[in-house]
Amino acid sequence: MASESNPSTSYWMDSANLPEEKTLTGSLKTEVCVIGAGIAGLTTAYLLTCEGKAVVVLEGGEIGGGQTERTTAHLSNAIDDRYYEIERLHGRKGAKLAAQSHTTAIDRIEAIVRKENIKCDFERVDGYLFVPEDESIRTLQRELAAAHRAGLGEVELIPRAPMTDFETGPCLRFPRQGQFHPTKYLAGLVEAIQRQGGRIYTHTRAGKIQSAANGAMHVLTNDGPVITAQSVVVATNNPINDLLALNIRLAAYRTYVIGVEVPSGSVEKALYWDTLDPYHYVRIQPNADGDTPDTDLLIVGGEDHRTGQEDDGDERYASLEQWTREHFPMSQAVKFRWSGQVMESMDGLAYIGRDLNSGPNVYIATGDSGMGMTHGTIAGILLSDLIGKRPNPWTALYDPARFTLAAVPDLAQEGASTVWQYTDWLTGGDVEAVRQIEPGSGAVVRRGLKKLAIYRDEEGALHPLSAVCPHLGCIVAWNTTESTWDCPCHGSQFDACGKVINGPAHQDLEPLSKTIGSTRTRIVRKGA
Ligand code: FES
Repeated sequence: MASESNPSTSYWMDSANLPEEKTLTGSLKTEVCVIGAGIAGLTTAYLLTCEGKAVVVLEGGEIGGGQTERTTAHLSNAIDDRYYEIERLHGRKGAKLAAQSHTTAIDRIEAIVRKENIKCDFERVDGYLFVPEDESIRTLQRELAAAHRAGLGEVELIPRAPMTDFETGPCLRFPRQGQFHPTKYLAGLVEAIQRQGGRIYTHTRAGKIQSAANGAMHVLTNDGPVITAQSVVVATNNPINDLLALNIRLAAYRTYVIGVEVPSGSVEKALYWDTLDPYHYVRIQPNADGDTPDTDLLIVGGEDHRTGQEDDGDERYASLEQWTREHFPMSQAVKFRWSGQVMESMDGLAYIGRDLNSGPNVYIATGDSGMGMTHGTIAGILLSDLIGKRPNPWTALYDPARFTLAAVPDLAQEGASTVWQYTDWLTGGDVEAVRQIEPGSGAVVRRGLKKLAIYRDEEGALHPLSAVCPHLGCIVAWNTTESTWDCPCHGSQFDACGKVINGPAHQDLEPLSKTIGSTRTRIVRKGA
């Protein structure tokens, strides 16, 4: 079935070409099979091929086509959840290791860029954390003390961030952060992996992972070929091999980004973050690739919500634009609008390590927690050490099996939000009748005991699907701004015709008969 989705386009997708690779057509054997060609998967594959390991990368879509091309690519050791929170959850030693690992990740990216001569606009910049106008700077003082205890002695409280029109008030300066162009970076990794003998297959969706003889693992692809590997790395943003063990400790959020032209040099190149919840995150990208080279692109993100639980993307983009124009009055045209998914872990740090639920030699990287570029690089370093049987001081901190008692209240809140989504089985549909679905739009429709996800394409043809997510049975929801079906439970995403784009589901929504045009439904919404 052809894809009908019209997803948003990020600046990174628009300004770099990632190579097209072949689809896997036959079974094969290798030392390591990496599932997922985003930053975590490709960094792992790169570091393993540097050691001479035989590596095969499987990607269900295009290289970088998951969340890496939808990031804003802040390279930061200023942890989103704050160091005082990481210290509360993981102790002083844990906070130190977190600071060390994120700092090392930025250093490692810089080293790879240099070694492989990757033209990806990598730059060292400072990062500035500030509070909203009406908020006390107590948060900053607490964070400053915790950052120092974590070993980041150069973090300092300064009177204001270096912006001319935006009076941030006192802020924390985190020196030697970084930024880059993520898809250009991935293109460089791909070239190096292949030069070092690694093989990459796209449009090859992995399904099940099974134990095989002699400690090996089988990766079964949806189209038939089987990979036999000594080790398997699952780096699919949201793990495709996990039914519930990890997913109950993850919460999927959709975040929104705009790219606004500003005169070149009018905003100091740096990373900026406020402490709102959800917070704003800002950076500057030279717009040399665009049609107006005398401008920079101001990239502003925020307005997060639980995936599939809201469908008001246009309003969120409008709020972002309003905030941007208020704080950056030099803003000109909005050139880009895109959204991406963030997987929040229960305790502010990613899950990276051995996944014993899936087999003896299966490794996982998930729970980016809004720091996908550094967590993805930490995954590459840590997983290549574990596969190479080398000790790594970060192993326990990122262990996917950890249970952080102090995070239980947050976990319960997120879990309740997920469980509540199953009540969608009892409610009506989004529309009264199928004829109310506009061309280019979708809606969930009740038909007896069943719920259908129906998309009407631009020519008026209907594409009816089961609305039941093949992962664990939640009812999907239409995402108007991305033209996708999003699962509100664990964040699976499907294109308008039901083809899976993002896990944990690894199968498509079930297509149904098209003879449903006269279906009538009641409007019964949750809470009605
Ligand atoms: Fe888990 Fe849909 S992603 S039920």
